[in-house]
Amino acid sequence: MEVTISNFEEGSNYDIDKEVKAIDATKAGVKGLVDSGVTRIPRCFVHPPENVLKSSSKSSNISHQVPIIDFEGFESCRRSEVVNEIRKASEEWGFFQIINHGTPVAVMDEMLAGVKRFHEQPQEAKAELYSRDPKQRVKFFYGGVVLTKETAVWRDTVAINFQDGELDPELYPEVLREELSEYTKHMTKISKTLSELLSEALGLRCAYLSSIECMDTQALAGNYYPLCPEPDLTMGTTKHTDPSFLTILIQDNMGGLQVHHQNQWVDVPPLQGALVVNIGDFMQLITNDKFRSVQHRVLAQEVGPRTSVASFFFPGAANKLKPYGVIKELLSDDTPIYRATHLAEFMGQYMSTGSSISVLSPFKVTRPC
Ligand code: OGA
Ligand code: NI
Repeated sequence: MEVTISNFEEGSNYDIDKEVKAIDATKAGVKGLVDSGVTRIPRCFVHPPENVLKSSSKSSNISHQVPIIDFEGFESCRRSEVVNEIRKASEEWGFFQIINHGTPVAVMDEMLAGVKRFHEQPQEAKAELYSRDPKQRVKFFYGGVVLTKETAVWRDTVAINFQDGELDPELYPEVLREELSEYTKHMTKISKTLSELLSEALGLRCAYLSSIECMDTQALAGNYYPLCPEPDLTMGTTKHTDPSFLTILIQDNMGGLQVHHQNQWVDVPPLQGALVVNIGDFMQLITNDKFRSVQHRVLAQEVGPRTSVASFFFPGAANKLKPYGVIKELLSDDTPIYRATHLAEFMGQYMSTGSSISVLSPFKVTRPC
């Protein structure tokens, strides 16, 4: 079906659900809208003006640069330096970029190219994967996961869920099958390294986080942000925190990712070969707020497309009901801020509130004053 702006109702009898569903029914995503030549964005993408304010600090302000951590020598002479930098960045920013981490740049570039190829293949090829079903492990959709709760964003996503046990590579989209196999292997490896370094940064033995199996599996999102004809009205990704323990992201050179730091939106500048790492909500819970899950967003831009790949690390399906609470070793004098929970409850909470509101508040321990 050809989609043009005239398909969408304007005026008082505007029905957002109908519009969202009409775009779902095209199975062509935001890219389908752009390809059909829309010059104005459909209303379901229009965000309140305060959510699209573009102001950001200039990267020249040295105190406001997302930390870049060089992993060179992390297994030997520079380990304590790297651990200290990770601690500082996780406490103060919740976000950092790492370089010289051992994941070949070619593997990262090919993964980004594979995601771009997926989204740029003929509509018919993608349409068969179009779905919002949480149980479907390989799928394609537009605008965000929970569109009943949130305003749509100017983004298409191919999502692959490795959490619920082995996934037959035959089920991977063919246009990025090899890239995906290679890339996820490297992500698993670097996540193990990071779990050791984060454990040490918390003052724990290096195998601590891996022993509690909190980052054993990943959910992967291959994002495609088509150019947007009205970038001042919408977002590529709305401000949110990630519900994961840890997220590792790669981005191409288009820019647009920002992190909220000291009341300002600070750019996360594209850096060839770097992995962007951020602390998720679940990590903030088990560290009793020592490490912070920080809000971030992606601007919609008049130029494009932009491609990114996010790997969200979580416990595996077998640990869905395993309780995770504040790490006892981290509580010297402090009392826990959060009660224990498990992945199933935590994600249920996330799906019901949506991603723009902190998922952590319902887990706060209430104290008599
Ligand atoms: C996310 C996210 C940023 C990006 O998928 O959670 O924050 O650059 N993505 O696509
Ligand atoms: Ni995110």
